[in-house]
Amino acid sequence: MQCFPGLVLALSSLLGALALLQLSLHLRVPSRYGKHEERLVRPRGRLPARCAWFLQELPSFLVPALLLALRSPPRLEPLGCRLLCCLFCWHYFYRTFIYPFFTRGRPFPLQLLFFGMLFCIYNGFLQGYYLIYCAEYPNDWCTDIRFTSGLLLFLLGMGINIHSDLLLRQLRKPGEVTYKIPQGGLFTYVSGANYFGEIVEWFGFAIATWSLPAFAFAFFTLCCIGPRAYHHHRYYLKTFTDYPKSRKALIPFVF
Ligand SMILES: NC(=O)c1ccc[n+]([C@@H]2O[C@H](COP(=O)([O-])OP(=O)(O)OC[C@H]3O[C@@H](n4cnc5c(N)ncnc54)[C@H](OP(=O)(O)O)[C@@H]3O)[C@@H](O)[C@H]2O)c1
Repeated sequence: MQCFPGLVLALSSLLGALALLQLSLHLRVPSRYGKHEERLVRPRGRLPARCAWFLQELPSFLVPALLLALRSPPRLEPLGCRLLCCLFCWHYFYRTFIYPFFTRGRPFPLQLLFFGMLFCIYNGFLQGYYLIYCAEYPNDWCTDIRFTSGLLLFLLGMGINIHSDLLLRQLRKPGEVTYKIPQGGLFTYVSGANYFGEIVEWFGFAIATWSLPAFAFAFFTLCCIGPRAYHHHRYYLKTFTDYPKSRKALIPFVF
């Protein structure tokens, strides 16, 4: 395989367009899973949350890992390139092999799982293909301010995301499906603390890679889970009369 810059541009632009579509679809109506799932008389097909999250996220890990393994000769230089590819795989290793096995979430709709998987194949290919076949970085990219500040943001965002998902998980005993008011960590300031972490993480990744595909993905993440944080916030305000009034939806002290 070789690098086709036109392909990268086309796939990144399409990702940007998909982000805007997500935003327009979900600003008013939340994505129908978890606390926003419609309670239908005859529920559509659903899969246990563990299985669904594992299957959905697996391509995001496998596709770039396969691209990396299949590249001949293997790409070993520069170090910055290898590290960036590893960061992406690291996040999806967590999301595929760790997160699903601890979740206490409700069963997940099959239809959304199908679209989620398609998206993970698409994005896994775009990010992996760009980093493994196209990206060119100087040998000292690891000391560039964009790499170091982006990496710091990535790690900070990942830490917030994992910690917030842990706090949500601890709200339930095994087998419970009720909703409670999240407390502690960044939930003190926002209803969508896990989403805030994920958005910071992917913008950090975009800065560290300084690439169009990664910025398109960070934008997609913002448009996908930003509205979800807003809907979670409204849900909490409607459901719990004692919900902290100073808590914002997504960005501490701002929104
Ligand atoms: N990069 C992207 O575009 C993208 C897109 C989607 C998700 N994600 C990431 O994937 C992870 C999960 O996303 P999600 O949309 O499922 O998050 P979520 O709606 O906040 O739910 C996360 C987990 O916590 C449970 N939960 C949520 N609020 C709760 C409460 N008040 N009381 C008790 N349990 C509660 C949920 O159970 P239920 O399932 O029963 O509601 C679910 O198991 C997040 O870290 C998110 O950042 C990333």
